[in-house]
Amino acid sequence: MVGSLRKGNKGEEVMLSGWVHRRRDLGGLVFVDLRDRTGLLQLSFGPEDTDEQSLAAAHRLGSEDVIQVEGEVVLRPPEARNSELATGDVEVRVRRLTVLNGARTPAIPVHLGQGEELPSEELRLRNRHLDLRRTKLRDNLELRHRLVLAVRNYLDREGFLEIETPILTRPTPEGARDYIVPSRVHPGEFYALPQSPQIYKQILMAAGYDRYFQIARCFRDEDLRADRQPEFTQIDVEASFVEPDDIFAWIEGLVEVLCEAGGLEGPDSFSRVTYAEALERFGTDRPDLRFDLTIEDWTSALGDSESRILRGAVEGGGRIRGVRVPAGAELSRRQIEELEGLAKAEGAPGLLWLKRSSGEATGPLARFLPESGLGRIGVEDGDLALVAAGEDRVTGPALGAVLAPAGRLTRRPQVRQHAWLWVTDFPLFHEDEGTGALVPGHHPFVLPHPEDLDRLEEDPLAVRSLAYDLVYNGAELGSGSIRIHDPELQRTILNALGLQGEEIDRKFGFLLEALGSGAPPHGGIALGVDRIAKDFVGASSLRDVIAFPKTTAARALFEGAPAPVTSGELEALQLESRGHRAAGGDDPASAGSA
Ligand code: AMO
Repeated sequence: MVGSLRKGNKGEEVMLSGWVHRRRDLGGLVFVDLRDRTGLLQLSFGPEDTDEQSLAAAHRLGSEDVIQVEGEVVLRPPEARNSELATGDVEVRVRRLTVLNGARTPAIPVHLGQGEELPSEELRLRNRHLDLRRTKLRDNLELRHRLVLAVRNYLDREGFLEIETPILTRPTPEGARDYIVPSRVHPGEFYALPQSPQIYKQILMAAGYDRYFQIARCFRDEDLRADRQPEFTQIDVEASFVEPDDIFAWIEGLVEVLCEAGGLEGPDSFSRVTYAEALERFGTDRPDLRFDLTIEDWTSALGDSESRILRGAVEGGGRIRGVRVPAGAELSRRQIEELEGLAKAEGAPGLLWLKRSSGEATGPLARFLPESGLGRIGVEDGDLALVAAGEDRVTGPALGAVLAPAGRLTRRPQVRQHAWLWVTDFPLFHEDEGTGALVPGHHPFVLPHPEDLDRLEEDPLAVRSLAYDLVYNGAELGSGSIRIHDPELQRTILNALGLQGEEIDRKFGFLLEALGSGAPPHGGIALGVDRIAKDFVGASSLRDVIAFPKTTAARALFEGAPAPVTSGELEALQLESRGHRAAGGDDPASAGSA
């Protein structure tokens, strides 16, 4: 392989194949950087070593031509060694060159010259075959391969069986819209692509496959964000006769294995907080614990202050909450405004703040806080205090949004570089903001917390569940729960979600049947492979760790999907489309944006 040659290979005769990465023509001599998946290697062509025909061909080589060469590995003269290249001590003196295939001038550069910038992402996605030749993307995909391989080996060692579940399936409720696929042989009927293998893995538990996993492709038709793709991959895990601690132990072991495979420092610990505690102390259910900043309740400390804003908030039934930022007094007014901007983006009208420096307090809050008030909220010399007042649903996200950025701005060392965390006891239900109806906190198969079962009827929104999330540096990497295994309880929950008898049987009859036929207690989790790979390589987008990703407009720009079908195809499916564009018309891909 091209990238593996070293000093020790000196004198060997080799035959190598790859792409012309770069060519330098010095008239008599030609140098080519040959590239394959493993790296780069310098080839030299000259009248002394190379046959005439090959030398002539070498003069004509263009970027990205595919070639094969035969020649001898020689040491480069000391002044020509390249310490930046793994193969930089050697080169191959080519005797014979075969051009296996020429290449058109690439639409985007594979090799960026000095000062050259990456082309736009849209252009790169349209030329993904070339973009994928870049070292960075190749490294990302290799890492992803190593991560998934490590997962398979680990779960195999732990006694888990990998079992594939269908792609053409019934709808699985995970909170998004389904992609549906029409059936030709059953006109008017549709398959759904799985939003996750959730129901199937539970049926496998009922069937006695007590440790299951799958590297599962999931499909969700939802509004996309930076951390979402319409098609993505999960490490999907389920086991029988387990409690949350069993799942945590397996997944903590898995994370260690992933870190090892990904060259990341392993976790020194996994913190645990309940959902309620996470909202109280961090204003979010996925806290970033790399900084030791927390939200505190300053209602009683500041509620009697002269500030109309603070008093008004408390009189209106709200709370005063704040964050003490040690060493925050060094932040400039602009930096504080930046933080305030983050709070405003979460819906807060603004932040009140004060800095304490050389014994003096400054900032909008300062005149309302005498020395004793500062003491009550623990603000010391050199600190900054950020305050929000009002309803928790506003102050929580607003202060939550400034925690990590404030920590970063103060240049205090992070407490840890890798913050792994379990968030537990999520609410079983939420209230739909529009309709007021109960909707599942996660999905409808989550077991209510045993201590809260008696509140199911009179106070369903207060019922906790045995659901948990795995959070890494503020990102949700995984989600799971212990499941309901009693068909009657499952029916009760589906009822509470507004489903009635006949509809329940139609949609979930097969699951209830399985639960009623001797299903063991069971639970599991699913981790997002794309998100893990993205965080491990430090990419800013999931698209950088997926070979053929979709744009935020859910389009595949390279191959052009979705695409219209012919009216004949629609007819065969006995479908009509109101928005139908005939196949072969305008290129719909041009409507997409990265
Ligand atoms: P959930 O829907 O929370 O749970 O998904 C589990 C994990 O999958 C990843 N993920 C995504 N990654 C990329 N793009 C998306 N659109 C996307 N949606 C989710 C996240 C998330 O934490 N069946 C349950 C799991 C269970 O209960 O065992 C489920 O799918 O990392």
